[in-house]
Amino acid sequence: MSTVLYIKANPKPDNASYTFRMSEAFIKAYQEQNPGDKIITLDLYKEDLRPLNAEMLGQMFAGQDCVMRKYAEQFAAADKYVIAAPMWNLSFPAILKMYFDYVMLAGVTFKYTEQGPVGLLTPGKKAAHITARGGLYSQGPTAQLEMGDRYIRTILGFMGVEPGNIITITTELTGVLQGQELEQSVNKSVAEAIQKASEF
Ligand SMILES: Cc1cc2nc3c(=O)[nH]c(=O)nc-3n(C[C@H](O)[C@H](O)[C@H](O)COP(=O)(O)O)c2cc1C
Repeated sequence: MSTVLYIKANPKPDNASYTFRMSEAFIKAYQEQNPGDKIITLDLYKEDLRPLNAEMLGQMFAGQDCVMRKYAEQFAAADKYVIAAPMWNLSFPAILKMYFDYVMLAGVTFKYTEQGPVGLLTPGKKAAHITARGGLYSQGPTAQLEMGDRYIRTILGFMGVEPGNIITITTELTGVLQGQELEQSVNKSVAEAIQKASEF
């Protein structure tokens, strides 16, 4: 039995978000095919996340109990991650960065060694990054501006998730396409999400 941590980072309700249209379809298909697995939904906008402050940093560096620990331990205990976050300002909503600031806890998700930091996540974990983008960033000249997927892959890799175990599912041009063309494009991405859930 695997534990899937479904991390939601969008203030919009499910039915108003293209990101969540894909991620909800992914999770539903995954659960149907893996009824024994446990899915933990973590809606970041319902958590009381605050930016790391001086007090929290003091606790962290003193090795004391801190609010970050429960998130870091929950993250380390999961086998699979589904991160649903729209593209905002070339990456993702700031709340997701805040969450990674909690999860990146030395001694739990990574450790310092003489050779530099090393990830502590056990090998074989899988991750899916699901994201809707107003423009086109998967190809062409704007691809190099994309920093959300790049950041998520980098930080997961830092903690020990192998690059080959990370997939990205996108729907793009939501701010450009209109009407039926937009619906068709999103539906195609939802179908891709359902198909990828069967291999996850
Ligand atoms: C605050 C904010 C920032 C955005 N920044 C970008 C951006 O940098 N590039 C882009 O292509 N679209 C951007 N968009 C558009 C969203 O990526 C697009 O509307 C997408 O469909 C949002 O996903 P959602 O439908 O799941 O909310 C932004 C939207 C918002 C609200």
